[in-house]
Amino acid sequence: MSTKNPPRLPNALRMGLLVTGLVGLLIGALAWFQVERERTTDLDEMDRRAYILAHQMAYSIQAILKLPDKEAAVALGSTLEGYPPLIGLAVYRPDGRLIAESHDLVEFSSELKQTVAQAIKEPKDLIKTLKTPVAQIHIVTSVIRAADGQTEGILAVVHDLTEVMARAKNRRIEFAVWSGILLLLLLTVVVVGAWLLYDRPLNRMAEWVRQLRTGDVDEPLPVDPPVARLATESDRLAATLLAKQAASQKQARQTSPAGPVWTHNRWRAHLTECLHGSHLLLVSHREPYLHELQGGQPRLVTPPGGLVAALDPIMRASNGIWIAHGAGNADRESADAKGRLMVPPDDPSYTLRRVWLSREEEHGYYHGFANEGLWPLCHRVHQRPVFRMRNWEYYVRINRRFAEAVLQEAGSDPAVVLVQDYQLALVPRLIKEVRPDLVVGLFWYIPWPAPEAFRICPWRNALLNGMLGADLIGFHLQQYCNDFIETVDRLIDARLDWEHFSIEWRDHISRVRPFPIGVADRNKHRAPHDVVLDRHIAELRDRYSLENLQVAVGIDRIDYVKGLPERFNAVARFLESYPQYRGRFTLVQLGVPSRMHIRHYRDHLNELEALADTINWRFQTAAWKPVRFLVGQHDPATVYAFMRMADIGIVSSLHDGMNLVAKEFVAARSDLDGVLILSEFTGAARELIDALIINPYDTEQFAAAIHQALDMPANERRERMSRMRRQVEEHNVYRWAADYLTALTARSAAESE
Ligand code: G6P
Repeated sequence: MSTKNPPRLPNALRMGLLVTGLVGLLIGALAWFQVERERTTDLDEMDRRAYILAHQMAYSIQAILKLPDKEAAVALGSTLEGYPPLIGLAVYRPDGRLIAESHDLVEFSSELKQTVAQAIKEPKDLIKTLKTPVAQIHIVTSVIRAADGQTEGILAVVHDLTEVMARAKNRRIEFAVWSGILLLLLLTVVVVGAWLLYDRPLNRMAEWVRQLRTGDVDEPLPVDPPVARLATESDRLAATLLAKQAASQKQARQTSPAGPVWTHNRWRAHLTECLHGSHLLLVSHREPYLHELQGGQPRLVTPPGGLVAALDPIMRASNGIWIAHGAGNADRESADAKGRLMVPPDDPSYTLRRVWLSREEEHGYYHGFANEGLWPLCHRVHQRPVFRMRNWEYYVRINRRFAEAVLQEAGSDPAVVLVQDYQLALVPRLIKEVRPDLVVGLFWYIPWPAPEAFRICPWRNALLNGMLGADLIGFHLQQYCNDFIETVDRLIDARLDWEHFSIEWRDHISRVRPFPIGVADRNKHRAPHDVVLDRHIAELRDRYSLENLQVAVGIDRIDYVKGLPERFNAVARFLESYPQYRGRFTLVQLGVPSRMHIRHYRDHLNELEALADTINWRFQTAAWKPVRFLVGQHDPATVYAFMRMADIGIVSSLHDGMNLVAKEFVAARSDLDGVLILSEFTGAARELIDALIINPYDTEQFAAAIHQALDMPANERRERMSRMRRQVEEHNVYRWAADYLTALTARSAAESE
C-alpha cells in the first residue's frame, strides 16, 4: 500500500482560494438581495399603474354597464385595447359573464376567468402574477360598485411581465460578471501577497536551515521573516548550531599536533603571568589528602575520583590555597587551629585549608542534596533524584560556610577563585555578593542535563542564580554548555549572547565555555619497563592467580553511573559465546567504595558482589575465576601495576562527564600495548576515538568488543595506543588548566576566545 501523501496546493494559493471563496459568498448574497429588491420595486410600480388605470376607467365603465350586453360591448369598443406592457382590459358582469375584452387577452381568457371568479366571490380587488404558457402576466381586478355598494361589474387590467423579468435576469448576469472580475483580482492580490510575505521568506528560511545543517552556510539569516519571534528563535538555533560546528571543528583541529606539550613548569610560568600577583584559591568539597586513624596512627589517604587526581598536580605548581571539607577522622589533629596544613607531606607545595562540618551537615548537604539530588539529576542513568527541603537548607548553609572560608583566605587582597563542581553551585554568587572584585570561575565536572530534566529540581532557579555569580562557567563538552544556556533561557529572564556564549543576569556577565579535562602523566619519567614494576606485576599475578591469563582491568568508584553490572554481564556473555577463553581470561575490577552512607550505594555494592559471585560460580574452575572484584582503597602503585599488566582497560559508564580513568590508562601505557574499551556515553569517547567504543547497554556488542580486543594484532594495538597517547599527552591537565585560567582572567569575552 502506498503511503504517499496527495500533492498539496501551495500555501499562498490555498490562502487565496479561502479568502476569495468567503468574499465571493458575501458578494453573491448581497447581489441576490439587491436584484430581488429591484424586481419588487418594478412589480409595485406595475401594481400602482394598473390601479390608476382601473380607477380612471371606472366612471365611464359604470355608465356603460347600465346598457344591455351587446350595446355595452359596442360602447366599450376599442377603449379596452392596451399598449405594451399593458396587454389590455376586460369587463365582466357581477355573475362573471364577459362583456368585452381586448383582443390580446383572448390567449389568457381561462386564467382571467378564474381570477375574476375569485374577485366576485370575495368580493374585493385582487392582484395576481401568473405564469402562463405564453407569458408571465400581472392581473389587477377592480370591483365596480353602485352608490349603494352593490357590485355592478368587474374590470380586469392585465400587464405583460416579460420585460420586468428580463431586467432582473440581466441585472443578475451583470452582477455575476463584475463579481467574477473582482474576485479574480482579489485572488491575485492575496496569492501574490501571501507568497511575498510568507511563502517566499519561509521557504528561504527552510533552505537556509537545511544548508546550515549540512554545513554549506556561515552567514546570518538572509531574509527577515514576518514573524519576529520566529526570527529570534531561528537566530538562536543558528547560533547554537554554528557554535556546535565550530566546537567540533576546533576539537578536530586539536587532534593534530599543536605547539610544545604543556608541562608542570610551563604551567607554573603561565600561572604567575595570569595571576598578576593575585592569590590563587581553589575550593572543592573533596580534599586532596585526608588523614585516617589506623592502628592509633594517622595515615594519609588519597580519596578516589577524577577531581582530586586532576587538580593536585595543578595546585602543586601554584603555592595557592585549596579549601575543602576535612573528612578524615584524624584531619583535625593533623592541621593547625585554623584547619591549615601544607601538602603533600613529602613535598609541601600548597596549603590545604580544611572546612569542618558536623555529621548532620555532611549528611544533609553532601549525601542528601548533592549526591541523592543533583548527582542523579545530572546523569542520564534512570535513577530518580531525591529532593528534600531539609537537605536543601543544609546545602545553602554549607555553601555559605565554604564561601566564608574563601573570603577569609582572600583577606582584602585580590584573588582568583576556582570553585569546583556541583556540591558548591551557590558559592560563586555568595562570594561575589561580598567581593565583586574577585575573579571567580566555576567548573562543572559532571554532565549538564537537558533543560527538561533540570526543571524538576524544586530549587532550580536558586541554583542557576548561584552559578551565574561566576565570571566563567566551564564544562567538559560543548553539548553541556549548550544545554546549560538553554536551561537558563527557559527558566530565568537572563540576557543571552549566543555568539559569545555569555549570559547577563543581575548586571553580571558569565561566560560559558567547554574545557575537556586531561590528566598529568605521573609516570612519564619511568622507563617503559622497569624491574620494580615487573616485580610488582608478578606479585599481583601471583596473589590473584592471574599467571598466564589475559587480563582486563576496570578501576572505578563504586557508583551506579559506572556501568559495573553491565561490565560483569558482558564478561559472562563473552565466556558463553567464546568458551575457548574460559580458564584463559579474567576481569580484575578494582572497586573503590564511595558515598557508602547512601543506601542506594550500599545496595549497589552488595548487588555487584552477588553478581560477581554468581558469574564466578557459574564458570570458575579450581584454579581460575573469571571475575576478581577487589573492593577497597588501592595505592597508586598497585593501580599503575594493574593498568600495565592489563591486555584491556574497560570503562563502561552509563553516563560520565569525562572519565579520567580512560585517560590514565592510556597515559600509563608507555609500552604502547593494551586496548581500551570505552563507553560512548563518556566525555572521553569524543577524544579517544581509537578506543573500541561500545554501548554498555548492548551486552552482545560489549562481549564482541572484549573478543576483538583480545584478538587484536599487536601492530594495530600499537598504532591505536600511539594515537591515543598523543591526544592524551597534548591535552593534558596542565593545558586544560592553562586554557581555563587564560579564559577566566581575560578582560573581555572576545579575549577569551
Ligand atoms: C566525581 C565528582 C567529584 C567527586 C568525585 C568523587 O568525579 O565530579 O566532584 O569528588 O566524583 O566523589 P566523592 O563523592 O567521593 O567526592
